[in-house]
Amino acid sequence: MYKFIQFIFAHINYLKKHILRFDLCNVFMVKNLKSFFNVGIDLINMFERQKNDSKIEEIAKRRGFFWQSSEIYGGLSGFYDYAHLGAAIKKKWENLWRGYFLGLDDNFYEIDCSNIMPEGVFKASGHLESFVDPIVKCKKCGNIERADQIIEEILKESFEGLTNSQIDEIIAKHNIRCPKCKGNFENAATLNMMFPLDIGTGKITRAYLRPETAQSVYVNFRREFECLRKKLPLGLAIIGKAYRNEISPRNVLLRMREFTQAELQIFFDPEKINEHPDFASVSNYKLRIKKHDSKTIEEVSCTNLLNTLPKFYVYYMAKIQQFYLNVLKIDRDKFRFRELSEEERAFYNKYHWDIELNISVGWKEVAGIHYRTDHDLAGHQKISSHDQTISVDGKKIIPHVLELSFGVDRNIFSLLDFGYKEEEDRVIFKLPRLVGPYDVAVFPLVNKDKLPEKAIEIKNLLKTMFSVFYDESGSVGRRYRRMDEIGVCCCVTIDNQTLEDDSVTIRDRDSMKQIRVKIDELCGVIYKFLNGENIEKLGELISRESKK
Ligand code: GAP
Repeated sequence: MYKFIQFIFAHINYLKKHILRFDLCNVFMVKNLKSFFNVGIDLINMFERQKNDSKIEEIAKRRGFFWQSSEIYGGLSGFYDYAHLGAAIKKKWENLWRGYFLGLDDNFYEIDCSNIMPEGVFKASGHLESFVDPIVKCKKCGNIERADQIIEEILKESFEGLTNSQIDEIIAKHNIRCPKCKGNFENAATLNMMFPLDIGTGKITRAYLRPETAQSVYVNFRREFECLRKKLPLGLAIIGKAYRNEISPRNVLLRMREFTQAELQIFFDPEKINEHPDFASVSNYKLRIKKHDSKTIEEVSCTNLLNTLPKFYVYYMAKIQQFYLNVLKIDRDKFRFRELSEEERAFYNKYHWDIELNISVGWKEVAGIHYRTDHDLAGHQKISSHDQTISVDGKKIIPHVLELSFGVDRNIFSLLDFGYKEEEDRVIFKLPRLVGPYDVAVFPLVNKDKLPEKAIEIKNLLKTMFSVFYDESGSVGRRYRRMDEIGVCCCVTIDNQTLEDDSVTIRDRDSMKQIRVKIDELCGVIYKFLNGENIEKLGELISRESKK
């Protein structure tokens, strides 16, 4: 009972804000006891999810993962800064992505381009006309909400791709009102999500902050094709910033106005869309997919998916799933591809599946695999008057594009969300070992008896290969807890035995088991541990750390 009262009080502010949002009339619409309990369970789940998110945010601020940008001036909604730990995690994720995806083909490269692009680019790409969100404005207080999101929140269903008149109908039918003042909404309208900029003084040039990194690749395609081997497929990747004037930024890093994308554009001959030289290696590999007209997730082999999708596309679906399951070690049941219906698909896509992870706020899109045809290159050819055709295999073509598009911040947030655990006597981020802010921490057991000197020697040795955190203050138990809380996967401790036989202990964050290894084997052992080896296979097991 005490816990229940504590729980209600802990969320009193949340209740005040969100019962209104939920719309009281929804509660009165509850028709029977079963749905009443469902609403109750929904509310409890919502509180639990909110609790998890706010704990992550609290640790993120206290320890140095991320916080709102320009905080000392009150911050700007939808803008975040990565602090020292967050920046380290983000770099590691980006490097894993880079190594994995650029390693898929010898003709894949990374480029780095300007974030500001002239208006013509977005005329050609269609963003000026079509990159719009539906909005509704409150007649009473002027508050603007994203129409599909406010409907979704209240009716608990996905409502992307509605026309403005469909939105008006739903709002009228369900009597949806402004969450701030309960006023009525004006008719739905659309708002372009790009940030415009005026460049120069005197004669002004209209430009935009790019809303996706992809356009920077397309405008460079012809030059890169000429510089490289004039060969398809050609892959060009960018890890860089994208900017969108989101109407309702929310969920910390999940919906931001300035965010990082890691995108790979693969240019290929459309006549070869049903080929991939390495397809045999994935033919029996099962993908976890949810079709747009189905409510369930199926496991379908790549070969069986060829009934509906081209080989080139399916091959890269397999590679994406392997990245999440084998490299990032995401639980299989927390991963799926979701097919988007025709109404939901981005305006430039012929095939469009999202990659979703089941985090504590439900299934969230973290990436997408998009068959963009020649939509962009043909558009740029038309508007810029620069020929985008190339000669391959004795014919002239405009290549087609398969895009693998990842939101870096959403991926980072999902890893933090999956990894956050409260155990009996500790809080822990079970981040993938390769993505922790430091690879390893080094501690002298006590701050005396020449142990710090030896520990510093070992820290310097490890620093030649790994990112290392060194600490000699406080009890070793507390130092372990601090590393657990920031997601460092292993700690090396120097004790009196080290001075006798040149051995150290390594502690595994997740199991708290410890092994003893010789210093001259240490680098190799840590390398294997970071790459997924079980701690017990790497040295003599001494103990599981005793509970403090
Ligand atoms: N170039 C294709 C493209 O930009 P998208 O689905 O609009 O496609 C790709 O975005 C990915 O970028 C998404 O899957 C998501 O992970 C991330 N993303 C999109 N909007 C975002 C936002 N406002 N905040 C954070 N990440 C976002």
